[in-house]
Amino acid sequence: MLGRLGFESAALDAKLLTGHALGLGALELATRENELVDSEAATRVAGLLQRRMTGESVARIIGEREFYGLAFTLNAATLEPRPETELLVDLALGALPAGGQMLDLGTGTGCIPIAVLANQPDAHAVAVDLSALALEAARKNADRHGLSGRIAFLQGSWFGPLFTSPEGRGEEGRFDLIVSNPPYITTAVVETLAPEVKDFDPRLALDGGPDGLAPYRVIAAESANWLKPGGWVLVEIGHDQGAAVSALFLEAGFEDVAVHRDLNGLDRVVGAHHI
Ligand SMILES: C[S@@+](CC[C@H](N)C(=O)[O-])C[C@H]1O[C@@H](n2cnc3c(N)ncnc32)[C@H](O)[C@@H]1O
Repeated sequence: MLGRLGFESAALDAKLLTGHALGLGALELATRENELVDSEAATRVAGLLQRRMTGESVARIIGEREFYGLAFTLNAATLEPRPETELLVDLALGALPAGGQMLDLGTGTGCIPIAVLANQPDAHAVAVDLSALALEAARKNADRHGLSGRIAFLQGSWFGPLFTSPEGRGEEGRFDLIVSNPPYITTAVVETLAPEVKDFDPRLALDGGPDGLAPYRVIAAESANWLKPGGWVLVEIGHDQGAAVSALFLEAGFEDVAVHRDLNGLDRVVGAHHI
């Protein structure tokens, strides 16, 4: 069925969803494939396959996605962490000094600071998102990976909650690194995306305003206030935004502004140095 609808990974999708509905891993599924299932279980499997046929991704149906070798719980307000974003984590690990403090703006599942802190034992993070529901998933994920003690989660818009919540401490100039994978798709293009993205990914996580640059304007304008001298900003970008986002950081007085490419050779991250 899924194959006829044109899902390239139909056989794998069906196996993963069947295993999930029956509570069986890949090995058990393979070794018990001749066993009969009762009608209740068959209905559960059919229900999940039906959801996949409407375009919902396997990760969303299962409620979990792997990123940087770690499992992340998803919910309706979170974007699925994407493999391209692993480049941002690699660069962040290079930019954050031992015992450093990082800020993640638009944290979603918390995948970026969680992946960084899991690999940098003395570092701490503050993670902000406008969505309270996304922060629920992020807190769960931090807990799941034993990092709750090293990440503070704040609700609000970009730098706003740093001033107003007690954990924000309002103390400017204290981060070694600011990272963000903000919404960067133009409002007009969001409408044209594949159903798997447009109908299931939260709009708040995708829509970067009329020219897709609205969040970068805020981040470029305000980051210097929150960084220590010598600190870095690293932002994920759309493949055609390298020049425009670099220009915003240069205008804001940053140095060593550079565009980094992902494994597909596409512009993916802009880095900027606060001297
Ligand atoms: C592209 S998603 C990235 C999520 C996650 N960091 C990742 O890489 O998978 C952007 C995130 O920014 C959040 N967001 C959107 N507008 C925001 C705002 N004004 N202030 C803070 N977060 C915002 C969304 O809720 C969403 O979680």
